[in-house]
Amino acid sequence: MKKIISLAKQRGFIFPSSEIYGGFNSSYDFGPLGALLKRNIKEAWLKEMLNIQDNIVNLDAAILMSPKVWEASGHLSKGFADELVECKKCHKRYRLDQVKDKCEDCGGELTEPKQFNLMMKTFIGSTEDEASTAYLRAETCQGIYINYKNVLNSMRMKLPFGIAQIGKSFRNEITTKNYIFRMREFEQMEMQWFCEPKEADKWFDYWKEQRWNWYINLGINPKKLRMQEIPDGERAHYAKRQIDLEYEFPFGWQEIEGIHNRGDWDLSQHSKHSGEKMDDIPYIIETSVGVERSLLAFFCDAFTEVEGGRGKDAKKEEEIVLKLHKDLAPIKIAVLPLMKKDVLVEKAKEIYKSLKKRYIVQYDQQGSIGKRYRRQDEIGTLYCVTIDFDSIEKGTVTIRDRDTMEQEVVEIDKLVEYFEERL
Ligand code: GAP
Repeated sequence: MKKIISLAKQRGFIFPSSEIYGGFNSSYDFGPLGALLKRNIKEAWLKEMLNIQDNIVNLDAAILMSPKVWEASGHLSKGFADELVECKKCHKRYRLDQVKDKCEDCGGELTEPKQFNLMMKTFIGSTEDEASTAYLRAETCQGIYINYKNVLNSMRMKLPFGIAQIGKSFRNEITTKNYIFRMREFEQMEMQWFCEPKEADKWFDYWKEQRWNWYINLGINPKKLRMQEIPDGERAHYAKRQIDLEYEFPFGWQEIEGIHNRGDWDLSQHSKHSGEKMDDIPYIIETSVGVERSLLAFFCDAFTEVEGGRGKDAKKEEEIVLKLHKDLAPIKIAVLPLMKKDVLVEKAKEIYKSLKKRYIVQYDQQGSIGKRYRRQDEIGTLYCVTIDFDSIEKGTVTIRDRDTMEQEVVEIDKLVEYFEERL
């Protein structure tokens, strides 16, 4: 993890938030490359839901909703609270169900258990009282449920159909360890599939498989992915059935996505609490994944260390290649003049300008060509286009592939075609 965190910071993927003020616990900022990687993950997910799957529409609901939503959903009551005890000496907090009778760190005495709700509270308007209390959403899907009828009617949907949404969620997590794995502010990509109750099991199995395939198709090593059926008593308060998709991070197997059969829990709760009539309430199969958590899985999976370096001119040192899938790699192409000679620089900039209209491209003329290749390998750039004297005389460039390091000579006029085929 140390190496991954360091690369992510040095190369502009992830910065600790508020660093100049000494940091802010568990908040992270996504740098230029991290922002692109996040965007690519979200696009890959939306493409899967809206273009590849059938009968799914998009939604963008508000973060702030009526507090009644959270009463109805069960998030304000016991369902979304941890029972915690605190060490009287070092103040470390533990979930009651996971602790022995003494602090595991310092052996200190523990306090009586206290309910700790995970909803983030805020106040709406100029007064700060009970009546103006609101909550930052703890899951994006509630915005989907309260718009179920709006979407059904305005879009003339027929069961089975889905609503997919990406957006920020907030939870006042007690323990926020393992880098960006568990944060208080994060993005979720959630899809709610509305279906006939008698078809819920069938759709659960369908979505479980589809979601597995999504990760594999985006390059995740299948040996590092597994499904865990969550037994009775350990499931989320709304779930009749729950499967966690887990990834083997350097810190162990952890959940990256939850697939839930939420039955009619949410819609019937909202119908009851709001008085809005809903005849024949469908069942809901949900797929829910965190953007940052899946980003961490993709990043860890792509992070490849090569002892002694690659290639014939490699020195006896370690090289890093970030083998991100082509759809996820933030920079698709790097344009590199072989040397800092005016003619080469001019030609390289011309090529860079024409390619950057179509792809995210980086121009780099700093340092030796070997060093520049390595820098691009570290950020997962798929192709390096090198401009040399043949580019001026014969109108060709050399294209280097990140993974095979093979080099191909391609005519400048055919560059767009070359990349259209591959990207
Ligand atoms: N609507 C269902 C739901 O929210 P969840 O298992 O609580 O289910 C789903 O969360 C996914 O959201 C998780 O698998 C994880 O990827 C992400 N997630 C949840 N809490 C998170 C946190 N504190 N930080 C980062 N990601 C989180």
